[in-house]
Amino acid sequence: MTVLEATGIAVAFGGVKALQGVDITVDAGEIVGIIGANGAGKTTLFDCLTGITPCSGRVVLGGVDVTTASVHARARAGLGRSFQDARLFHSMTVLDTLRTASEPHRPQGSSLLGTLLGGKAARDGEAEATRRANELVEVFSLGGYRDKLVGELSTGTRRIIDLACLLIQRPKVVLLDEPSSGIAQRETEALAPLLTRVRDELGCGLVLIEHDMPLVLSLATRLYALETGRVIAEGAPDDVVRDPAVVRSYLGDDPEAINRSG
Ligand SMILES: Nc1ncnc2c1ncn2[C@@H]1O[C@H](COP(=O)(O)OP(=O)(O)O)[C@@H](O)[C@H]1O
Ligand SMILES: [Mg+2]
Repeated sequence: MTVLEATGIAVAFGGVKALQGVDITVDAGEIVGIIGANGAGKTTLFDCLTGITPCSGRVVLGGVDVTTASVHARARAGLGRSFQDARLFHSMTVLDTLRTASEPHRPQGSSLLGTLLGGKAARDGEAEATRRANELVEVFSLGGYRDKLVGELSTGTRRIIDLACLLIQRPKVVLLDEPSSGIAQRETEALAPLLTRVRDELGCGLVLIEHDMPLVLSLATRLYALETGRVIAEGAPDDVVRDPAVVRSYLGDDPEAINRSG
């Protein structure tokens, strides 16, 4: 089942044609990698898909055309994007962070007034949020951090918490922009099994922009290679990284990149 289909995505910033008609599809359960040199348009593609950057083209999410939908409407329709801990409060504990993220999912019938008055529905909502938060602590093996402040954690662990918060919304598609950037090698190695777990648990599609080739090759079921706003290769990861155009445009700068990726 296709969860995301974007066609003809194009945008220019002044004279710079950042995207020049990009087509991309993502199926449920797929991990799609996006590679390309700096400035190829990878982050801009995410901005267009989420609705942050107005563009031409068409975006269909879970069979629904969201081309004219707002950022929030797309998020509600199941498009999740990681913010790489930018939205986490450093003075909150891990459990409270996950609990807060869980709270909008109140049982049917709870009202704002009920919440203010601390009525039964609100208490049920809190109990449910706590239950979900504890569940996430288990799923993400965060037991050792449950009562730690977010600000005390490493960047890599905060990224996992951010991901957990994102998953509470049960997105159909999750967009991750360089999840390995700025984190330690050991933490990068822990990302691969974690992202696979996310995919398995939610059955969602994952789209991963990543310059760490070993990481992207260990995860992706399909790759897109971008160059100056165009898809220059698409398909099985092994084929894409060996594609002459890709080698020239991206990996060619760094012959070691292919060797490192085995
Ligand atoms: N808000 C913006 N204003 C002007 N130019 C931009 C903006 N965002 C991106 N660009 C330009 O668009 C191109 C693609 O950038 P980007 O999507 O960030 O590339 P990538 O994520 O692949 O490194 C670059 O030339 C970049 O300078
Ligand atoms: Mg980028």
